[in-house]
Amino acid sequence: MNTASLARTNGQNAASTNPLLELKDIDTAYGPIQVHFGVNLHVNAGEIVCLLGGNASGKSTTMKIILGLVRPRAGAVRFDGRVINGLTTPQIVRLGIGSVPESRRIFAQMTVRENLLMGAYHRRDRHAVAEDYERMLALFPRLKERLQQRGGTLSGGEQQMLAIGRALMGRPRLICMDEPTMGLSPLYVDRVLALIQQINTQGYTIFMVEQNANLALQIAHRGYVLQNGRIVMEGQADALLNDPEIQDAYLGEGVS
Ligand SMILES: Nc1ncnc2c1ncn2[C@@H]1O[C@H](COP(=O)(O)OP(=O)(O)OP(=O)(O)O)[C@@H](O)[C@H]1O
Ligand SMILES: [Mg+2]
Repeated sequence: MNTASLARTNGQNAASTNPLLELKDIDTAYGPIQVHFGVNLHVNAGEIVCLLGGNASGKSTTMKIILGLVRPRAGAVRFDGRVINGLTTPQIVRLGIGSVPESRRIFAQMTVRENLLMGAYHRRDRHAVAEDYERMLALFPRLKERLQQRGGTLSGGEQQMLAIGRALMGRPRLICMDEPTMGLSPLYVDRVLALIQQINTQGYTIFMVEQNANLALQIAHRGYVLQNGRIVMEGQADALLNDPEIQDAYLGEGVS
């Protein structure tokens, strides 16, 4: 076990020199119910970073804060050094943060083609958008066969591919993914994770929440464990994978 790269934390995580994304001392509440207590985490350019934790620990809320869908009560979210909490979601998307949201949120009545192009709605570089569209068809041959099919009629795995393709169409510098393998068969879980690894090697930085923690840590560089709204552990993915306490608490059979 590589204990040197695994740290137990009290919300005071190791700082990174120049992270692409940084959450600093984030407190969040829904009305009287506090969900985050001093959350600190960062994602460096080029990394896949995985956020683990049990149900209701505040993982999706973390994603919503980054995307500007929920406002933290205290703390700062910085993207490329700039404070972004307070900006609207469209402004945050324009800065270069894309998302694959919980439950995919495919536009059910739109065709596959229209769904993909919606991912580029904020872009003005029409020529580059057309190039990216062609790249998506090469990356997702199954979608290419179904361009005129309505999004809502795709299988779960196909919808997940479409959600990822739609996010890539925005040419984001960071993609936030909330449980990209949720509800997929083991074959599709492997496919989606392999795809995430592939797009990471193409230069995309990825921050993801994943219930398939053992599999996710196999493709991630680093991970954080959120428990009742606090980061209780962080480290290199291999160190987390080999930590018996983490295995028992979060990575065991059927436990997120
Ligand atoms: N809009 C909301 N209003 C009130 N409470 C909310 C709202 N959204 C989430 N919560 C509560 O905040 C807590 C954290 O929710 P969140 O969705 O972030 O958890 P999660 O870690 O993503 O859980 P899961 O693994 O089940 O997806 C939960 O107790 C949830 O009920
Ligand atoms: Mg969630």
